[in-house]
Amino acid sequence: MTTYDQLRIQLPTAPRTWLITGVAGFIGCNLLETLLKLDQHVIGLDNFATGHRHNLDQIQQAVTPAQWAHFRMIVGDICHLDDCRAACVGVDYVLHQAALGSVPRSLEDPIATNAANITGFLNMLVAARDARVKRFVYAASSSTYGDHPGLPKVEDAIGKPLSPYAVTKLVNEQYADVFARAYGFKTIGLRYFNIFGARQDPNGAYAAVVPKWTAEMIFNQALWINGDGETSRDFCYIANTVQANLLAATATHPDATNQVYNVAVGERTTLNELCEAIRSALAPRFPHLADFKPNYQDFRAGDVRHSLADISKAKTLLGYEPTHRIGEGLIEAMDWYVANLGKIPPSPPFSKGGDEESPSLKKGGWGDL
Ligand SMILES: NC(=O)c1ccc[n+]([C@@H]2O[C@H](COP(=O)([O-])OP(=O)(O)OC[C@H]3O[C@@H](n4cnc5c(N)ncnc54)[C@H](O)[C@@H]3O)[C@@H](O)[C@H]2O)c1
Repeated sequence: MTTYDQLRIQLPTAPRTWLITGVAGFIGCNLLETLLKLDQHVIGLDNFATGHRHNLDQIQQAVTPAQWAHFRMIVGDICHLDDCRAACVGVDYVLHQAALGSVPRSLEDPIATNAANITGFLNMLVAARDARVKRFVYAASSSTYGDHPGLPKVEDAIGKPLSPYAVTKLVNEQYADVFARAYGFKTIGLRYFNIFGARQDPNGAYAAVVPKWTAEMIFNQALWINGDGETSRDFCYIANTVQANLLAATATHPDATNQVYNVAVGERTTLNELCEAIRSALAPRFPHLADFKPNYQDFRAGDVRHSLADISKAKTLLGYEPTHRIGEGLIEAMDWYVANLGKIPPSPPFSKGGDEESPSLKKGGWGDL
């Protein structure tokens, strides 16, 4: 039995109170679903900048009325310290996901990204520390590896950030470390690699590659690959990410806290391979995909060529064991997209000046590579 199996047996016997910031977003709402199904008490904080009420509606449908009654939503902004303090009252564990994601968005509007990702992060740290939260787990990012050429990526060897977004995620790690040293506050950063799965938003200029390509294939639209398609990433299914969060919050290894961990699978997939994997997963249901071909355009400035995680630290200190490789995750994710894509309303334009597409985003831009 894995550590995660044991945790899922144990948690319902002693329910805790969890705060998920960014709960209406992709990763946040998947965390919410798992925690409610484990009979936990959950407080959610979100300002719906990029998250959606329909994500929360889906979770309500997926859990029992009694489990849903254990969820309390606070509509608020992490840039406001009072909202953070209100959300932290009585909380055991914080899973801090709220941020403005996407490298291209941060290049277009670094001020908005800085406000949510650095000021908001610091507000949450202060509020959680003052509320005596047991542990603060936060979404860090593989973008922190920046221009470091090493592969696979090992937590201690980082380069210079390549975007304002990457700066914010690096600063998060530095603040968390200082809060550990200066105040004895227990933090864990999870450096997510490219996460994908149900409820990841396919709409908007900053959509991530898996939902964007899935939608383009289903609706028979032109699909653009930046560069020659041999760029590679360590794509990580959402179930693995949820596992890492729950293990991080509860890990008992004496060296587990005040650390950052790679959250990925430890396997590299090229964009050409990803495109073909999505196509072949959808083709039985969409005959027009039998001879679907992608288009190619210039490499996008700032994209690193290859990314691959060493996940041994998370395995050793957290007991992390990914349950889904990319192919298994894509099959589950495709089932959800096929069932739901037509029902997802288009996103409203980004409300803080990010709704203007740059030339590089006009066709085939992705938010996550
Ligand atoms: N998805 C990935 O592949 C990936 C990779 C690396 C890191 N991350 C990080 O994981 C976290 C979650 O990402 P996601 O993919 O779920 O993105 P998402 O955009 O779906 O979710 C982010 C959520 O945060 C909320 N939010 C943003 N600004 C806020 C503010 N000021 N106050 C309150 N709520 C706010 C949004 O409304 C949204 O619901 C982010 O911190 C992101 O940087 C994601």
